[in-house]
Amino acid sequence: MNAEINLTNVLLETDRLILREWEENDLNDFFEYASVDGVGQMAGWQPHKSLEESATILKMFIDGRKTFAVVLKENNKAIGSVGIEKLSTEIDGYENMKGREVGYVLSKDYWGQGLMPEAVKAVINYCFETAGCDYLLCSCSPQNTQSARVIEKCGFRFVLEKVRKLTDGSTRAARYHILDKPNR
Ligand SMILES: CC(C)(COP(=O)(O)OP(=O)(O)OC[C@H]1O[C@@H](n2cnc3c(N)ncnc32)[C@H](O)[C@@H]1OP(=O)(O)O)[C@@H](O)C(=O)NCCC(=O)NCCS
Repeated sequence: MNAEINLTNVLLETDRLILREWEENDLNDFFEYASVDGVGQMAGWQPHKSLEESATILKMFIDGRKTFAVVLKENNKAIGSVGIEKLSTEIDGYENMKGREVGYVLSKDYWGQGLMPEAVKAVINYCFETAGCDYLLCSCSPQNTQSARVIEKCGFRFVLEKVRKLTDGSTRAARYHILDKPNR
């Protein structure tokens, strides 16, 4: 079952990052990375074509209260997002436990610096210590080796592969990984 998530007034800090709720004035930063070819496709969505399109998604982030903006302290820019999404699959043996599924995207300009593992580790800690999750899932397509590395660095283990329906109605294979709350 899904754990309840409400990120109102939640702020997480790591060495290089602040994770906080999205704000309306993040729109330009959001469009800047979400409109770049080869970023969203790896997470199952097409590059944004207009500021209006980004504004619509941004409003969903703000209203949904389950998606962090990843802000780089160095320049105070929103350079990515981490969502604590509803579960897109059940895992045998976990039916009575509370879980969530973590999803993330980072601006192409900042790939390869270990920033997303740093962000996801902070979110994992929040989910287990504060949000009452017993376990977390994270999935990626079999071709997405970059995301697989983040998953690995954050300590998840592979559990199952299945066909997943994306937001645009298309389907593709997804490899699911699980992380148990320590000492539960
Ligand atoms: C997945 C993603 C968030 C990784 O973030 P990150 O902060 O770059 O993560 P890392 O720095 O730990 O790098 C992860 C792997 O990406 C690869 N990588 C690093 N820099 C790269 C670059 N410039 N171009 C392509 N791949 C690169 C490396 O294989 C690296 O693994 P390594 O540390 O063992 O060398 C980022 O690549 C991204 O936003 N991808 C598009 C969206 C996406 O796939 N989201 C997840 C959907 S399941």
